[in-house]
Amino acid sequence: MYIYEGSTRQKARPLFFNNHSIVETRKTETMGSSFWTLCLTSLLFASVAFSAPPKRAIDVPFGRNYIPTWAFDHIKYFNGESEIQLHLDNYTGTGFQSKGSYLFGHFSMHIKMVAGDSAGTVTAFYLSSQNSEHDEIDFEFLGNRTGQPYILQTNVYTGGKGDKEQRIFLWFDPTKAYHTYAILWNMYQIVFLVDNIPIRVFKNSKDLGVKFPFDQPMKLYSSLWNADDWATRGGLEKTDWSKAPFIASYKGFHIDGCEASVNAKYCDTQGKKWWDQPQYQDLDADQYRRLKWVRQKFTIYNYCTDRVRFPHPSPECKRDRDI
Ligand SMILES: *[C@@H]1O[C@H](CO)[C@@H](O)[C@H](O)[C@H]1NC(C)=O
Repeated sequence: MYIYEGSTRQKARPLFFNNHSIVETRKTETMGSSFWTLCLTSLLFASVAFSAPPKRAIDVPFGRNYIPTWAFDHIKYFNGESEIQLHLDNYTGTGFQSKGSYLFGHFSMHIKMVAGDSAGTVTAFYLSSQNSEHDEIDFEFLGNRTGQPYILQTNVYTGGKGDKEQRIFLWFDPTKAYHTYAILWNMYQIVFLVDNIPIRVFKNSKDLGVKFPFDQPMKLYSSLWNADDWATRGGLEKTDWSKAPFIASYKGFHIDGCEASVNAKYCDTQGKKWWDQPQYQDLDADQYRRLKWVRQKFTIYNYCTDRVRFPHPSPECKRDRDI
């Protein structure tokens, strides 16, 4: 039997698509103006081109970057491994992990969640260093009875300590089509993104005495398993095994990260990759506006406001409150 301890699995996608509007603004300004402005503009164009996330191929085969972790026969492959399914049944769930370990990057996955009656199931996509004082960045999708909404839970562990859960409902049905879930992780922030919309930001709050993951390489993990002791309505709704197998589908196995050996303490290209550049060091106004929209309309739970569990909220919650 597989004992699945802890509850850290996660996923998201970046929302940095406003390079276009930056370029447009510059263009208008330079009309009929000086040589130097022109030079500056070209420079700006060049740097935007350089630091924008490259177009990511959707058809990278699973086996290029990932391997199955357990219950190999419960993973099914399609279209030359560009698409896979995880199957959960009464006997076992399954999961996979990246071959490489990474220090910083942008990690995304296209996932279609278990459809129909998914109560009791959890689908996870996350980064973890899996050592004794582990760092971890999680997306966990908690299934529900047919027609009832999934919950997306996110969490961050630093030095083996978690307890930073946030929960939201999604603004779409995640079982109907593929959606993109991504994590941006650099020296400045961890951003959780759903279809390019930031749903959570965990700022580097070292200045407030809060640990931030920066020197432990992490691998990517994903899994589908039974968690009907807690997942749906706090464990009240049990998995209906007559509906098995439960199936989650995946594509988009490209990885943008600084690959490092498991014991490395720093990344060789630190500061040089697109996800390190200034426009990824903080959200811009448009991204903050979208994040606020998610927080106001879809938040179910935030550890920062749970005074019962945490009479003294963690210091980074000061920043969380300002969003
Ligand atoms: C499942 O649906 C119920 C009823 O609408 C809701 O209270 C709950 O938050 C939903 N999600 C989960 C994962 O329990």
